[in-house]
Amino acid sequence: MKILVTGSIGQLGSELRFLSASRPGDSFLFVDLDELDITDAPAVDRLMAKEQPDVCINCAAYTAVDKAETEAAIAFKVNAEGPENLIQSCNRYNALFIHISTDFVFDGAATKPYKTNDEVRPSSVYGASKAEGEARVLLLGKRFYLLRTSWVYSSYGNNFVKTMIRLGKERATINVVDDQRGRPTYARDLAAAILEFVDGETEIPYGLYHYSNTGEATWFELASEVMKAYDLACNVLPIPTTAYPTPAKRPAFSVLDLSETQALNRISLLDWKESLYKCISILKQNEHAGQD
Ligand SMILES: NC(=O)c1ccc[n+]([C@@H]2O[C@H](COP(=O)([O-])OP(=O)(O)OC[C@H]3O[C@@H](n4cnc5c(N)ncnc54)[C@H](OP(=O)(O)O)[C@@H]3O)[C@@H](O)[C@H]2O)c1
Repeated sequence: MKILVTGSIGQLGSELRFLSASRPGDSFLFVDLDELDITDAPAVDRLMAKEQPDVCINCAAYTAVDKAETEAAIAFKVNAEGPENLIQSCNRYNALFIHISTDFVFDGAATKPYKTNDEVRPSSVYGASKAEGEARVLLLGKRFYLLRTSWVYSSYGNNFVKTMIRLGKERATINVVDDQRGRPTYARDLAAAILEFVDGETEIPYGLYHYSNTGEATWFELASEVMKAYDLACNVLPIPTTAYPTPAKRPAFSVLDLSETQALNRISLLDWKESLYKCISILKQNEHAGQD
């Protein structure tokens, strides 16, 4: 199988690159912004025509949640036009398209986990741009899986877990929001699940699914577990969202319901704490090796 991965030096793309080493039977083509700008429709089409991949996994996105509040045009270009360009070319060259969306398409007013068909009501520009991307994929998609995920971290790139480790080394105490609840997701698990969808194409109906780690936490609970797992003495204190204002509004509750994914019986769903410890053990090894 030939698999094209866009946005390949981000967190998820880097995890797919790591996993690609254990799939010698497949040929992977990894491209990032400097090789393929997904907002450039003719460039997307030229690459798809030349390479004729069997699968295109879109890891490219505009993910600067707060900056998006003042950069709506670029957020919509990357997160809505980008996937539209890719899916049009996938349809033209008969490739399977995999696209990733976010819990931030919901406003967070729910009190029970969000189902895939719950109404999207984003409360940030980033969330609105991702919701528009979803809408275009759902409208135009033929062979596609649209996977919504949440609270993604990895040993690659910048993310909440790595920020907590850095702050945990620098400070005796940190304050972390304790009234936003969601499902942390290790990008390596998401990458593995994406490949399970690819491998299961003949059996898994096309469409929208939720994928995250199982269990749930607040950012305070996640930060506390990071300190414990990394053996950092930093004291984590819970604060309300009102004490940590950000330009973009975050959903207070964004737990994704995983029942449809679970019912497929072929996608690995893993506990968030166990996955966090796996990632942290890699980060510790990297620190020992002087890589971080
Ligand atoms: N991170 C989270 O907590 C989270 C949560 C839920 C869903 N998601 C979704 O999960 C997916 C993967 O996220 P991630 O955390 O891996 O994102 P990431 O680390 O920010 O990686 C995104 C990559 O896309 C590249 N990119 C930006 N604009 C592009 C363009 N026009 N054409 C091609 N590449 C472009 C970025 O390059 P530059 O860095 O140079 O801009 C970066 O390498 C995204 O769809 C995201 O919306 C993420």
